[in-house]
Amino acid sequence: MIVAPSVLSADKSRFRDEVLKVKDAGAEFIHLDVMDGKFVPNVTSLIEYLPSIQDIDIFKDAHIMVMDIRGYAKAYAPYSSLITFHLEASEDVKGDIDFIRSLGCKVGLSIKPATPPEALIPYLPYLDLVLVMSVEPGKGGQAYLDEANGKIAYLKKAIKERGYNCLVEVDGGINGETGKIAASYGADVLVAGSYIYGHADYRERIEALRRL
Ligand code: DX5
Ligand code: ZN
Repeated sequence: MIVAPSVLSADKSRFRDEVLKVKDAGAEFIHLDVMDGKFVPNVTSLIEYLPSIQDIDIFKDAHIMVMDIRGYAKAYAPYSSLITFHLEASEDVKGDIDFIRSLGCKVGLSIKPATPPEALIPYLPYLDLVLVMSVEPGKGGQAYLDEANGKIAYLKKAIKERGYNCLVEVDGGINGETGKIAASYGADVLVAGSYIYGHADYRERIEALRRL
C-alpha cells in the first residue's frame, strides 16, 4: 500500500521536519491539501511552506479543493508531482486535465461523497489517479463513510478492465481499521492525516497502513 500522510494535521511551524519524518518512516507520497473557502468553507494555503520541501525526494500529491482550478494549479504546479482537482468544481474537466498536464504535473480527479463514480468514467483514459473522498472534503478528523467502499471497487474494476494506468486513492477518516476495509475494496493509495500526525509515533502508524 502507498501511504500519503496529509499535512493538514502536521505542525506547520516545523513543516520541513514533519515531511522528512514521514518520508523516513516509509511514506512514498505527501498529501498537500489546499482549500479556498469557496468550494469548501475553510481556507488552507501551503504556498509559503512548500519551497522548504522542494529538495525532498517524495511524491508531492496536491489535492486542490477549490473553484478556480487553473489559478491554483498554476500556483502549486512548481511544488507538485500530481495535482488532483474536484469534478464538482469543474466546468471543463478535459480542459482542466490538459491544462494541469501542460504545467508538467500528473493529474488526478476527485469526487465528493454525493457524486457517483460513474461520473469519472469518461476521464479515466486521461488520468493518473482518481480520488474517492470518504468524508465531506474540508477538514480532517471526520469519520470514514462506508459508501466509499462500493465506489473504490467500481473504479478499480473499471480501470482494470480497460487496462488503464490509474491509481485509486482514498481520503478521509483512514485509520488501521478503515484502511484495511478500503484496501480490501481495491485502494492503491491511502491518505491519512490525524491517524499519522495526531500520534506520537509516525512510523508505527505508517507501517500499519503500508502493510495493508
Ligand atoms: C479533507 C482532506 C483530507 C484530510 C484527511 O478534506 O482532503 O486529506 O486531511 O484527514 P483525516 O485523515 O484526519 O480524515
Ligand atoms: Zn485531501
